[in-house]
Amino acid sequence: VHWSAEEKQLISSIWGKVNVEECGAEALARLLIVYPWTQRFFSNFGNLSSPTAIVGNPKVRAHGKKVLTSFGEAVKNLDNIKGTYSKLSELHCEKLHVDPENFRLLGDILVIVLASHFGRDFTPACQFAWQKLVGVVAHALARRYH
Ligand code: HEM
Repeated sequence: VHWSAEEKQLISSIWGKVNVEECGAEALARLLIVYPWTQRFFSNFGNLSSPTAIVGNPKVRAHGKKVLTSFGEAVKNLDNIKGTYSKLSELHCEKLHVDPENFRLLGDILVIVLASHFGRDFTPACQFAWQKLVGVVAHALARRYH
């Protein structure tokens, strides 16, 4: 994947302002609400019985933060995203058995969350760069699947 200087700049300028805890929690909660079949991977997280329960669930919040923190590794290693997610790909494939289509869904949701947080500052060019990033991350996470 090639990143232009402008794309790199757009990605890091947004990332520098992201509240990882808030946005991570919101993105994972939205995934579980909008695509309810994803709940089956989190059956040990307790109450996921309604949107309100999901948004208020501390395990969802904590895990959302963990996942978005991990996105930060992609931002720091734009030129080696495959290598960065090699171990995580193995985990999601071999241990967790997450269908890789779900990586795309979570990435798309993250873009929506960023757009809703940044409003006008999330310009079409920003959206383009972020959509490209979440696609590359999803691809890297799916790499160990066979
Ligand atoms: C665990 C990242 C997507 C299901 C994890 C962990 C990270 C992570 C960093 C913790 C690994 C550890 O403890 O060593 C990501 C990233 C994603 C992603 C960057 C980006 C798209 C998904 C999706 C699902 C999922 C879409 C399911 C729908 C899980 C589960 C765990 C996990 C079930 C274990 C949770 C637990 O019980 O602690 N993920 N993940 N992940 N992930 Fe993901």
